[in-house]
Amino acid sequence: MAIVKVAINGYGTIGKRVADAVDAQDDMEVVGVTKTGPSFGCEMAVRKNFDIYSTSDDPEVIRTFDNSPFECKGGLKELLAISDVVIDCSPGKMGEDNLRKYLDAGVKSVFQGGEKHSLTGLSYTSCANHMENFGAKTTRVVSCNTTGLSRTLVPLYEHCGSLKVECTMIRRAADPGDSKKGPINAIKPVLKVPSHHGPDVMTVKPEIEINSLAVAVPTTIMHLHAIIADLPEGHGLSTESVIEMWKETPRVIVMNGERNRITTTAEVMEMARDIGRKWGDLHEIFVWEDGVRLIGNRLYYFQAIHQESDVIPENIDCIRALMKIEENWENSVKKTDEAIARYYNI
Ligand SMILES: NC(=O)c1ccc[n+]([C@@H]2O[C@H](COP(=O)([O-])OP(=O)(O)OC[C@H]3O[C@@H](n4cnc5c(N)ncnc54)[C@H](OP(=O)(O)O)[C@@H]3O)[C@@H](O)[C@H]2O)c1
Repeated sequence: MAIVKVAINGYGTIGKRVADAVDAQDDMEVVGVTKTGPSFGCEMAVRKNFDIYSTSDDPEVIRTFDNSPFECKGGLKELLAISDVVIDCSPGKMGEDNLRKYLDAGVKSVFQGGEKHSLTGLSYTSCANHMENFGAKTTRVVSCNTTGLSRTLVPLYEHCGSLKVECTMIRRAADPGDSKKGPINAIKPVLKVPSHHGPDVMTVKPEIEINSLAVAVPTTIMHLHAIIADLPEGHGLSTESVIEMWKETPRVIVMNGERNRITTTAEVMEMARDIGRKWGDLHEIFVWEDGVRLIGNRLYYFQAIHQESDVIPENIDCIRALMKIEENWENSVKKTDEAIARYYNI
């Protein structure tokens, strides 16, 4: 089996996590990560033995590494020349420029949710459309919110055959390491109605009819979704059977809030730190068991999303789809998650 050579373009919040997740697998390897210049993130790449390249091919930019403790192996072009696939983890909206570079280099590419679906014409979520992406040249792993919605809605849709959903996304204002964004003392509604989050689910599962509203609140640790789903007549489900379905769903954690005294996103994140997840990450979507209620055909529930990490294992499954390594999404998910657990010894 040939080991897939993976480049990480942009070694920030998402890039550093994807690099670790690739490093954990036995069917792929990190051949290099990019930085815009020498900074504290380079130190972590050095400790991991990842080669550092510049995000730019401009010799002057590459030379900024010269008087630093970090060796730069070259520009992005040189990294792409030794790669099979690049995971684009640059800040959103750089996709157009970068996609051209990847196509010129003949390298497959995976973008993140900060880019629009129209960039690649294809999006990815492990549970929704793995095979649609099989062998594709380029795609986009949907955002953390869309990934979260897909994890719980796709199995429901698959049971019911149709689904109409309204949800409100209560979004964290900024990531914990981000000092530039807000609000810090306000609630900011997204005035573009409906917000893009719900409809984005339809890029991976067009059959689910979904709309969303979104507000940003002064917290950094998680997003919270308040979801109302209308199931078709004859769905045959109960509150208990929906809970059982999600307990069987990969990358979903269902816990009783009152019984476990885990009634807020702060406690969910504390649990992630307690169980030894690096950076306190939680790849799974967290559903409060006691917040699920099916009344007639209408299902109500809350879920929490760790925005910095739920998309990380999806990137690994996506590489397997693009590189035609594994046809069965559930096999890929199992392989990805077991390798990550072994890597962090959890
Ligand atoms: N953070 C989240 O919660 C989250 C969740 C899901 C999806 N996403 C998406 O993931 C993508 C990355 O977001 P992020 O949160 O990881 O951003 P981030 O923390 O700001 O990291 C972006 C990285 O890109 C690098 N960069 C800057 N200019 C670049 C260029 N021209 N080419 C390549 N890399 C460049 C930066 O490098 P330097 O550090 O060297 O300057 C930085 O490390 C975005 O599309 C975002 O929407 C983010």
